[in-house]
Amino acid sequence: MIELIRVSKTYHIPAAPRPRGRNLAGMLAGLERLFEPETEKRIVVNDVTLKVHEGELLALLGGSGSGKTTTLKMINRLIEPDGDGQGKILIGGQDISHISKRDAVELRRKIGYVIQSSGLFPHMTVAANIAVVPRLLGLKQWSEARIKERIDELLKLVKLEPTDFRDREPEKLSGGQKQRVRFARALAAEPKIVLLDEPFGALDPETREGLQKDFRAICKAEKLTAVMVTHDMTEALLMADKIAVMQDGKVLDQGTPRQMRASDNETVRRFIDSPRHQAERVEALLGGTLHGDFR
Ligand SMILES: Nc1ncnc2c1ncn2[C@@H]1O[C@H](COP(=O)(O)OP(=O)(O)O)[C@@H](O)[C@H]1O
Ligand SMILES: [Mg+2]
Repeated sequence: MIELIRVSKTYHIPAAPRPRGRNLAGMLAGLERLFEPETEKRIVVNDVTLKVHEGELLALLGGSGSGKTTTLKMINRLIEPDGDGQGKILIGGQDISHISKRDAVELRRKIGYVIQSSGLFPHMTVAANIAVVPRLLGLKQWSEARIKERIDELLKLVKLEPTDFRDREPEKLSGGQKQRVRFARALAAEPKIVLLDEPFGALDPETREGLQKDFRAICKAEKLTAVMVTHDMTEALLMADKIAVMQDGKVLDQGTPRQMRASDNETVRRFIDSPRHQAERVEALLGGTLHGDFR
């Protein structure tokens, strides 16, 4: 289980320049600035509480800049949350919010992480790319024979024929195939948790649909606990067990798609309803009751 309890992330960014004048007031203001910090606080994740149960897929949904990626990166400690003493991130009951850098590296090896275009190593074969983390973990846990087995197991899981794909280089793959390899790589060391940041964003609709279905099936088959960032409501509805809607660093509401549809929060309801509205407009347009000029 993953639990975020009252987690925030604040950045201190350079303050906007204040007007400077040549008169006395301006000079005084300039003097004043010498004694003031030249930064201002930007709270990008604001008091977020989230729960992801074992085997569940949570979609973190929201517009651009709403704080989704920052929230996700705090779960594998790529980003450290504010240390104000009240926020906690529990993974399997253990608070990882302020562990050391070294422990954070350790933690990340146990959590699969997929982003839209994370570097697959171009000079390495698909097999070698998938084997990166098991090899890092070393012989005690992963013998070469076991790794070889695991590579084929994973390629089959993501529907790439091992004999065909094992020895190819990433450049010789389509966008969808590359993304399948990224999934395989993320799952190589048998993590129980996977984090995904807009994993299907760059794919054409047909490829995306195939991957969405396959990935959900893999999560369920492997009993993974998953958090997926997306700005695509249809994707969230089709894939997730639970949805959390974010805006301006806050979680507006969270629950099952059905619960979100009946949310007390109007923004959430509107957001959830948007794919249906769109489909209705397309239907009306094709059916001739809505004309091009009035779309
Ligand atoms: N290192 C940083 N310093 C200052 N602001 C940041 C930093 N990283 C992200 N932000 C800001 O935090 C907000 C949320 O970013 P992010 O979590 O990436 O949003 P999302 O993934 O929902 O698009 C944005 O306004 C972004 O500009
Ligand atoms: Mg993002």
